[in-house]
Amino acid sequence: MDFKSLSFPDAPVIKIQPPGPRSKEYLSFQSAHESSAVSYPRGMPMALSSARGATVEDVDGNVYIDFFGGAGVMNVGHANPKVLEDVSKQLSNLTHSLDFPNEPRKALIDTLFSLFPDPLKRVLFGGPTGSDAVEAAVKLAKYNTHRHPLISFEGAYHGMSSGALSLSSGLSFKEDFLPLIPEVHFAPYAYCYRCAFGKTSESCDLECVKYIEHILEDPHSGVGKPAAIIVEAIQGEGGSIIPPEKFLTGIRKACDKNNVIMIVDEIQAGLGRTGKMFAFEHSGIVPDIITLSKGLGGLGFPISCIAYKEKLDTLPPGKHIGTFRGNVIAYTAGAAALRFMIENNLAEHSFNLGEKMLSWLKDIEKDSSIVGEARGRGLMLGIELVKDKASKEPAPDLAQKVRTICHQHGLLVEIGGHYSNVVRFLPPLVLTEELAKKGIEIFADSIREVDEEQ
Ligand SMILES: Cc1ncc(COP(=O)(O)O)c(C=O)c1O
Repeated sequence: MDFKSLSFPDAPVIKIQPPGPRSKEYLSFQSAHESSAVSYPRGMPMALSSARGATVEDVDGNVYIDFFGGAGVMNVGHANPKVLEDVSKQLSNLTHSLDFPNEPRKALIDTLFSLFPDPLKRVLFGGPTGSDAVEAAVKLAKYNTHRHPLISFEGAYHGMSSGALSLSSGLSFKEDFLPLIPEVHFAPYAYCYRCAFGKTSESCDLECVKYIEHILEDPHSGVGKPAAIIVEAIQGEGGSIIPPEKFLTGIRKACDKNNVIMIVDEIQAGLGRTGKMFAFEHSGIVPDIITLSKGLGGLGFPISCIAYKEKLDTLPPGKHIGTFRGNVIAYTAGAAALRFMIENNLAEHSFNLGEKMLSWLKDIEKDSSIVGEARGRGLMLGIELVKDKASKEPAPDLAQKVRTICHQHGLLVEIGGHYSNVVRFLPPLVLTEELAKKGIEIFADSIREVDEEQ
């Protein structure tokens, strides 16, 4: 399929500097009536009216190239016609099902199982958000091991509900709400640009993996034997961090040796984003439990699930329940989206286009004094901004400026990273090379402008 027809033609179109007058009205209504916790419209002030493919329109008629993708949700593109067709047929039949079986649910499960590696044999649909899936994964691990400690990673983001927040490392998210769940321990992730062990790519001997082995095996590590280690195969909110291939393999081995459950959180990196259907496939391991959400609902319909090995299927009936574990529209959209991904080799497209975009970003890195590192796999890309390339002092203020300039010129981007200094791209996977090029040009201009101000 030619993905070009999925997006608005001629993007970007900036008719009036955002936020335009109609956006301003919505934004002032929002600030008068909604919680002060609202966040995205502060960085990209606008009100939305419609979206197609890899493009988004605001209420003032500005059309943006979307490298944000609704925070990595819109893998098959906004308003994907194949998904919409199935959804509109389903809407008048059945929409809510708790956990009663039905055809769309079966179709989604069938499609997922055609994609999972063999040992993942069971799925559990819980609440609709990614955080719900993380809670379910942790409960399943605890129930099976009768243990409580958990190991997570520096830079991890697993969600906002108490259990998921406990496993997320960002202190600003959690320090006002302590105590959360106890006995969660954090180990350094393979963040090679800022290696916690002071190593370089030449001197690296996978010290981060050795440290995990040490925690698990030294009787004086102070960490009780964990129920599970939870890890993102590629860290998302932590700053699009790509670990060396052997990182996950090493954790898999340490889990096997010490009889610890390995949970891989695929909520952001899964479903084609990194060039494989699941990001753990890059390292050839099979986790014991995976979490899925975001792109699973096709067009942003809320749904999440975990998938796990048969031997873990021990929960008695009713042990993990919830009203919204049966949104039939989300199943319908999810099955249609997965079919679209398979039929159009979307993971491969994501990998190939991502490689091209990364090479353009590497050129920007070379020319700029504020780009410390451009990195990524598939269409999960990150550009880490620094005040100085030698000291690597993080530059969160510059990342904000870059996002503002990009927005004003018709490009939506995300910001993440340990220091909120990583500009992140998570576009719909139906992004075309033409739109990718235009988007990167806007980004390159914004970097140049901010660089020159320094
Ligand atoms: C890796 C990962 N896990 C979990 C979550 C939480 O998902 P949700 O925001 O749907 O609760 C996110 C959200 O960004 C995520 O990126």
